[in-house]
Amino acid sequence: MQRVISLEELRRARKALPGIFGFVPTMGSLHPGHMSLVSRARSECESVGVSIFVNPTQFGPREDFGSYPRNLESDLQMLEDAGADLVWTPEAEAIYPAGFQTWVSVEEVSAPLEGKARPGHFRGVATIVTKLFNSVMPARAYFGQKDAQQVAVIKRMVADLDFPVEIVVCPTVREPDGLAMSSRNVHLSPQERRAAVVLHRALTAARSLLDGGRRDGDEIRAAMRRVVRSEPLAREEYVSAADPDTLKELNEIKDTVLFSLAVRIGKTRLIDNILIP
Ligand code: PAJ
Repeated sequence: MQRVISLEELRRARKALPGIFGFVPTMGSLHPGHMSLVSRARSECESVGVSIFVNPTQFGPREDFGSYPRNLESDLQMLEDAGADLVWTPEAEAIYPAGFQTWVSVEEVSAPLEGKARPGHFRGVATIVTKLFNSVMPARAYFGQKDAQQVAVIKRMVADLDFPVEIVVCPTVREPDGLAMSSRNVHLSPQERRAAVVLHRALTAARSLLDGGRRDGDEIRAAMRRVVRSEPLAREEYVSAADPDTLKELNEIKDTVLFSLAVRIGKTRLIDNILIP
């Protein structure tokens, strides 16, 4: 496995790698959720590259950029063990040099849910993913269903801007009790960790209602909200039953729906979702 830092080194290393190139963009602090993307890329592509970059422009001024977990040494070891060919760990000054002023905004699909709760977040995500794609030039890029709106934004951007990249979406990896794996879970105290399962419980309740034939979006959103409110340590930010591509809320659920929610447990903000079918 080769580790590169500068864009020049990256381009040279990338050119030397043969065949279909699979790319996994990350912010590091890698866990089995990230590693599932790397394994999938490894099984489907001749060459696999991973980027590790905690992208400052996707964090709001009052968000956790400073305290976002960073574990470069163990990340590099995990990627080596997983058989990655290339790891790119760029410096922020090289990605955003003085005078930087070009942004990618994906409009409607970025607006609700995470976009509303975190203004500017998806502009930062779309811009960094554009820069990473332009530098790495992958044939395929792997993203987690865990960040469902991010997937919708990136797919829209790739279609709208004609990026020659195939987006592969991988299932959410969970802890045994259902909590979706996230780099931010390390911030949870033992008591908060137990409370955090409420996200998965709310999604399971939504799925059960749908399985039982309920189709009314408002009714299902209300049921999810009740589950969240039953957990004293949880504060709801939003619950949603939306179209998975447009993220518009559904009044009547037909074949496909994305149930999603954002909840604060203490100081930690967690998101989760399930896509049906
Ligand atoms: P990060 O949060 O590090 O996640 C990197 C990738 O891992 C994303 O595609 C995310 O959806 C996926 N992932 C995280 N937890 C997962 C889980 N439990 N199961 C499956 N996949 C999971 O998402 C980002 O970084 C950034 O926004 C990025 C795309 C790198 C742009 O900065």
